[in-house]
Amino acid sequence: MSSIKHRQTTGSVSRRRFLSGAIAGAGTLALSDRLAMAQSIVSASAPITVDEIQGWGEVPGVVDIGDNENPYGPSPRAVRAVAKSLLDVNRYDFGSSRKLESAIGEFHGFPAPPPAANRFAPSGYPVYVEGGSSFILKQLAVRYGVADGNGEVIEAYPAYGGVTRFINGYSRLFGTEITVRRVPTTADFTHDLDAMLAAVTPKTSLIVITNPNNPSGTLLPQADIARFVAAVPGNVMILIDEAYIHFVREPGYEDSVALSQRHKNVLVSRTFSKIYGIAGLRVGYVVGDLDLINELKFFGNSSGIGTINCYAAIAALEDRAFVRHVKRMTNDVKDYFYGEMDKLGLSYIPSHSSFVLINAGQSGAELHQRMAARNIKLSRLGMDGNPLLDNYIRFTMGTHDEVQVAISALKEELAA
Ligand SMILES: Cc1ncc(COP(=O)(O)O)c(C=O)c1O
Repeated sequence: MSSIKHRQTTGSVSRRRFLSGAIAGAGTLALSDRLAMAQSIVSASAPITVDEIQGWGEVPGVVDIGDNENPYGPSPRAVRAVAKSLLDVNRYDFGSSRKLESAIGEFHGFPAPPPAANRFAPSGYPVYVEGGSSFILKQLAVRYGVADGNGEVIEAYPAYGGVTRFINGYSRLFGTEITVRRVPTTADFTHDLDAMLAAVTPKTSLIVITNPNNPSGTLLPQADIARFVAAVPGNVMILIDEAYIHFVREPGYEDSVALSQRHKNVLVSRTFSKIYGIAGLRVGYVVGDLDLINELKFFGNSSGIGTINCYAAIAALEDRAFVRHVKRMTNDVKDYFYGEMDKLGLSYIPSHSSFVLINAGQSGAELHQRMAARNIKLSRLGMDGNPLLDNYIRFTMGTHDEVQVAISALKEELAA
């Protein structure tokens, strides 16, 4: 057992702390404690466990279940990798992002490319790593929206809307007029692929599919996605954003990575910010056709990903036990949450992700504010202005304690 002190997060003591608003996470540790902790990790004198790191990033007094972060902390192996590379940052280590690309390529079972020509050369895998998948969405907004000049982009509604937000921002900034067609989902908030196909015009340059969808958590069967891809003209790029794919518990569910290797116009993006628990290190990636990947890489900022971030991502990717742990805990909390919503008589969208969208039966925007006043951070991202979603609000599946506290506050607000 290590000498690092850690907070119990599952017992009644911690629940009492939450309820009294005095969350004593590592955020409250004195600098000397933090340094001692870092030192013991660097010297590898202390084994670190998930329990110990849980809650390190918490803001004391706040139940932060708004941004779909991993509440169980980073993988202990990622923490160790950060500590180990701390003292090497005086070097460029150009090879670190190549190593990460290779680790991702191997993870997905891509065929091994010929050996790299030199230590600066990319890995040869059809993988492009970036500082967060948001930057990849932004790059696609430029490549298929702004640079295309008169391209058209299709994205569902509600959906994450990242590409739409970037295109709208560029349009405001440069006075360009890029059409974004937001195609309403079906009544159960699933992507309406038939309607998205019908929205394609000769000008369409990019279609975005978020699977599982955010904020609804709905999931498209792989067969439906494959049929859609086959029907879309080959000159239209299709981005499938799989930020939350790791939480899917459908037995045998097939993701879209293999599809991206069969079709030159399919890209699949992923992030290390969710199940891998290193949102603050900003690492995401996209896989697809090698030529396109190399083009994106050329215009991107690959060498801008810090060495520490790359090694942490490699460690997180390899820590499959941690990923399984987070998936299990998140889905257990989700089942508990469903049960509580059933007791409250509130409807929700069954989710394949790490969050749940509920119908609160009253203004979601106002409830969002009232919960925030109680230091409970939820999300209405992308919901304002959509009459279908007026009464909806999204809960990230934090730890059991966090969600329990949020539900008690919700009950009080509903009764008020
Ligand atoms: C669907 C989806 N895609 C992409 C992102 C961006 O993730 P990041 O930039 O942290 O990789 C998010 C973040 O919440 C998301 O929900």
